[in-house]
Amino acid sequence: MRHWLNLLEYEPRELAQLVALARRIKAGDDAEASAALRGKILTMLFFNPSLRTRTSFEAAMLRFGGHAICLNVGGDTWPLEHRDGVVMDGACSEHIREAAPVLCRYGDLLAVRTFAKLRDAGEDAADRVLRGFAQHATVPVINMESAMEHPCQGLADWMTIDEKLNELPGKRFVLTWAPHVKALPMAVPHSALLAAAAAGMKVTIAHPPGYELNAALLDRAATWCAAAGSSLDKTHKWREARRDADVVYVKSWGAAAHYGDDDAQRSGFQEHADWIVDADHLKPGALLMHCLPVRRNVVMTDAALDDPRCVVVDQAENRMWTQVAILCHLLRQPH
Ligand code: CP
Repeated sequence: MRHWLNLLEYEPRELAQLVALARRIKAGDDAEASAALRGKILTMLFFNPSLRTRTSFEAAMLRFGGHAICLNVGGDTWPLEHRDGVVMDGACSEHIREAAPVLCRYGDLLAVRTFAKLRDAGEDAADRVLRGFAQHATVPVINMESAMEHPCQGLADWMTIDEKLNELPGKRFVLTWAPHVKALPMAVPHSALLAAAAAGMKVTIAHPPGYELNAALLDRAATWCAAAGSSLDKTHKWREARRDADVVYVKSWGAAAHYGDDDAQRSGFQEHADWIVDADHLKPGALLMHCLPVRRNVVMTDAALDDPRCVVVDQAENRMWTQVAILCHLLRQPH
């Protein structure tokens, strides 16, 4: 049985097929989606808040005859433990070893949102909560953003670029770091990077020194770029990178070396406050992207977000269409 845990576990060719399917469904060719989703139940477990992910999954299921159940862990459910072998004499009343298979008896798909803790980069890389659900589930598991990746966002981003720019191989994709008020996870930049690499774009990552992304993931993105005849580069110079880009993808993330030290993270953001993205950093015709939510005039200026080149609402809409494609893909496999 295949899950949808991260882009890293899929081949670029498979991801491209999902983007193509999502585009066909959005264009009105919905027979496959209706056949796959009608009467199906998606159970969503949120350890963290959401606006787009929850709503787009619910809308995706409802539009095509299915149903979605949304549970906020610890609010709607018992607080859940995921570690093995622990004495559960603390806040958690139930273990995912029971919770996951129970929920799988009620529905056809299980989706989980569980953010990075940002205390230990090695712990985050292990993605233990998501992996625990995948281990104990008896239906396909969907990652709705975990410590390491946000694959639904990455696929929607790919679809959005595909719609706007058509031929992607060779186009210049710049993932640019931006300041924030607190450390944020690397899941979105990881998946954005992998999606751009899988699409054959010429990828540049721009960030200040000390804000390196996960090395294994960067290696994979470089491999995918090379296989497509493209390249992956890194730079500390935001101005040049943004000026030449066909796509400027904006995201804030924390410095792994300062995990657990909020003052150091804040100082880093203040030191690099000039990395805020403005409309005049982009060339005419470029796309400006962000996964949302975004803090205006901290991450991106009002002028950037209100610029016609900014496609953040299209990205958010495409979450729904690409998730329909992912749901179809998971439901049509025999299990
Ligand atoms: N981009 C995204 O996942 O949005 P939410 O956190 O609102 O779900």
